[in-house]
Amino acid sequence: MSESVHVPVLLREVLELLNPQAKRVYVDGTLGGGGHTEALCKSGARVIALDRDASALNRTEQRLRSLFSGEPFPIRFAHANYRFFAEAMEMLHIEKIDGFLLDLGLSSDQLADGQRGFSFDCDGEPVRPEPVRPELDMRFDTSEGHTARELLATLSETEIANVIYQFGEERHSRRIARKIVEARERGEPINTARQLAELVRRCVPKSRKNPIDPATRTFQALRIAVNDELGALQSALEQLPQRLVSGGVAAIISFHSLEDRLVKNAFRDSRYWKPITAKPITASEEEIARNPRARSAKLRGAMRLSEPQS
Ligand SMILES: C[S@@+](CC[C@H](N)C(=O)[O-])C[C@H]1O[C@@H](n2cnc3c(N)ncnc32)[C@H](O)[C@@H]1O
Repeated sequence: MSESVHVPVLLREVLELLNPQAKRVYVDGTLGGGGHTEALCKSGARVIALDRDASALNRTEQRLRSLFSGEPFPIRFAHANYRFFAEAMEMLHIEKIDGFLLDLGLSSDQLADGQRGFSFDCDGEPVRPEPVRPELDMRFDTSEGHTARELLATLSETEIANVIYQFGEERHSRRIARKIVEARERGEPINTARQLAELVRRCVPKSRKNPIDPATRTFQALRIAVNDELGALQSALEQLPQRLVSGGVAAIISFHSLEDRLVKNAFRDSRYWKPITAKPITASEEEIARNPRARSAKLRGAMRLSEPQS
């Protein structure tokens, strides 16, 4: 896949919060298709752009290099977990930044790539001419860690149920875990996204009120566990105050309540922050019609105070 199909969410609202200025330095911890980074650079800002997904990073680097072909090129790329953004800054000899952005979760490009196992709609045709990996993978960074298939093959029934309950808030977590373990005991372990989706749909009654696919919460839970998404977010939130200039802004877009709660609590509780969004900013009807992925996006912003409040 050479072009990104990902449409950035809440782009105008992110720019309003970050208010990018020429020559100032921003970290985009979740580069993805580069929509937000591109807009920051069009304001003359410089960006340190991180992504755990090497293929997304390479593809977006190519796209942005062709867009900003004049000198000096405003972006430094790093294949890294954003929880290590401070290390990326140190390698570039940058002590403080003017703004920090996270647009959490996965991109439409990753969802569309059936080989990654993120989508319950498909086991998918490979979108890159690569050897077929039929595995239920779900890692953002395919060079490290354990895949979702490996987790389901090795965790105990209780551990699987806990993951699905904690990270997916799925009421039927125990039943799903039981069926997963029964399948593996029969010698038919869950290897693909389709197998998992079908198993979950057999365990979770379809709700008349809520039209989302019953497999949604289980897929979300596994992805969060595989990538330790909440751990990365918590770690970045803890490091941020030391790395932002006073008056610098952090803007974070989350897509489910577990993430949003971490962001809200960090911005509210820390004596370093002044929240600049009283309530999370959500997408307009018009944006949701254009980009349904924006439906569950919540954007929060906070400004680094010059002196810690006692
Ligand atoms: C929603 S997309 C970002 C889209 C981007 N803002 C745009 O406009 O195209 C999220 C991206 O963050 C990456 N990602 C998720 N967790 C990460 C982490 N802990 N560190 C670095 N990148 C991460 C994913 O690989 C994905 O490419």
